[in-house]
Amino acid sequence: MSALFLDNEAEYLSWKTEKQHHYPHSLAELVVEVEDPFALTPHEVSALLTRCAKSNMALFRLTHPERIQENPLPALTARLGIHQVDKNLGADGDGVSALTPGGSAHAPFAHYIPYREAAIGWHTDGYYNPIDQPVQSLCLYCERPAQEGGENELLDHDLVYIRLRDQHPEALRALMEPDVMTIPARLAEDGTIARPERTGPVFFVTAAGHLQMRFTNRTKSIRWRDEAATQTAVEILRQILRDAEPIRFRGRLEQGWGLISNNVLHTRAGFSDPPGGLRRVLYRARYFDRLPTGAA
Ligand SMILES: [Fe+2]
Repeated sequence: MSALFLDNEAEYLSWKTEKQHHYPHSLAELVVEVEDPFALTPHEVSALLTRCAKSNMALFRLTHPERIQENPLPALTARLGIHQVDKNLGADGDGVSALTPGGSAHAPFAHYIPYREAAIGWHTDGYYNPIDQPVQSLCLYCERPAQEGGENELLDHDLVYIRLRDQHPEALRALMEPDVMTIPARLAEDGTIARPERTGPVFFVTAAGHLQMRFTNRTKSIRWRDEAATQTAVEILRQILRDAEPIRFRGRLEQGWGLISNNVLHTRAGFSDPPGGLRRVLYRARYFDRLPTGAA
C-alpha cells in the first residue's frame, strides 16, 4: 500500500524522512551539465534521473547551445525513458509545442495564455486531462529566452502534500476527493464540445504509488465542490502557494537550458521582446509516463 494513502501513517513517516533527507536547497543543485543532448552519457542520465527521483525535477544546461540546430527534447526524453507523448491540441505532429507568442500549431490556440506573454500562476500541466491519462512528466527546452522576464517558479508537489498532511490533514482529505475539482467543457468555435467536462481530485496516488497533482490557481473556468470544507481546503492550498518561497525554486531558462520534471507545480512570469525582433522560443513536451527512478 502506498505511503501516500492517508491511513498509512507508519509508511508515510518513513517516506517523508527519506524525501526530506538531503533535499536540494538551491536551484544550482538541480542543474546537470549536458555535453550533447542527442547522445546523453550514462553519467548525465543518472544525474538527471537521480535529481528527479529526489525532487521531481532537474534542470539541464547544454555546454554548447550554439551547436544545436533543432529542438533536442524528443531525443533527450526518449533516452531518459519517457515515450508516451501527450499530443495536446496546440502541439505539432511530434507532440512538442513551441511556446512562442502566436506559436501554436493550431490557430484557435494562438490566443491561449501559454502562447502569449502574460504571467501564469501556479498550475500543473494537463489539469484538464482525463483522470486516467494524467500528464506525468513535463519537459521544457529554451531555444531563446525573452529579452526581459519569463522566469519560472518550480515547486515539488510532494512538499505541498507533506505540508498539508502534517498541518491540515482535513484539507488534504478534501482535496483528494474524486469530485473536488471540475474543469468545464471547452467549446469549439462552432459550439460543439472540443473537450468534455472533467472532474477529479487535486491530489491522487497513481497505481505505481506516486503522487500526482492536478491544479490551477485560476478562478475562471474551474468549479470546486460546493461545500464549506472544500472552499476552506482550497484557500489553505492557495495560502501555502503564496507562502511557497522557502520551498520553491526560482530561475529563468536561458538559451540551451531545459527542465525535466514529474509535472511539478510551476508559474511563469510575464515577458517581453522588442517589437519586430527575435522572440522567446521555448519547447514543451508532455508525457503520460513518469521519469524512471533508476538508470534508463
Ligand atoms: Fe505549464
